[in-house]
Amino acid sequence: MNILLLTGSPRRHGNSNTLADFFAKGASEAGHTVNRFDAAFRNVHPCTACNSCGMDGPCVFADDFAFVREHILKADAVAFASPMYYFGLSSQLKAVIDRFYAISSRLHTPKKAVLMLTYADNSRREEAPILTHYEVLLDYLGWTDAGRIVAPGMWPAGAIKHSSYPQKAWELGKSLG
Ligand SMILES: Cc1cc2nc3c(=O)[nH]c(=O)nc-3n(C[C@H](O)[C@H](O)[C@H](O)COP(=O)(O)O)c2cc1C
Repeated sequence: MNILLLTGSPRRHGNSNTLADFFAKGASEAGHTVNRFDAAFRNVHPCTACNSCGMDGPCVFADDFAFVREHILKADAVAFASPMYYFGLSSQLKAVIDRFYAISSRLHTPKKAVLMLTYADNSRREEAPILTHYEVLLDYLGWTDAGRIVAPGMWPAGAIKHSSYPQKAWELGKSLG
């Protein structure tokens, strides 16, 4: 499988990036190809709704989204890894998702999806907006959920290393097929 891994944290060795690392390791060990895009370290301009793309065409911004555009169209699976920022995905990752707009018509093809989410609190209610966003996005695109790892109680970068979540992320990557 070709897997596109999209991360959203500016903490290079933070909690969600640790999950992404383990997920990628498991997936690679299973023989999959993982193309990773760390949105917080790349240049992706937010969509400005100019509609020049018409939801299926070139974007007016020539930036690092070109990598996503190239790899998402041939991806069998797309994995999202993000911290919770004010009850949503990080804006770095959201900017990437908004830019799906320019290729929207070509994204409605069957793909698997994975969500990896970390946050500091311990509250199902706080998770709900992101989980609903993920589910509705998948419904819209016709993608299938292949697994979610939601890790509450993770505040400092590295907190997740003392939990079983990295192992779960590795297993999820390994189990994709
Ligand atoms: C700007 C910002 C907003 C945050 N918002 C929330 C929040 O709404 N709820 C929560 O539980 N934690 C929140 N946190 C904490 C992070 O979600 C938590 O530390 C997460 O594990 C960070 O993941 P990372 O290490 O991958 O960046 C926030 C942190 C930052 C910096």
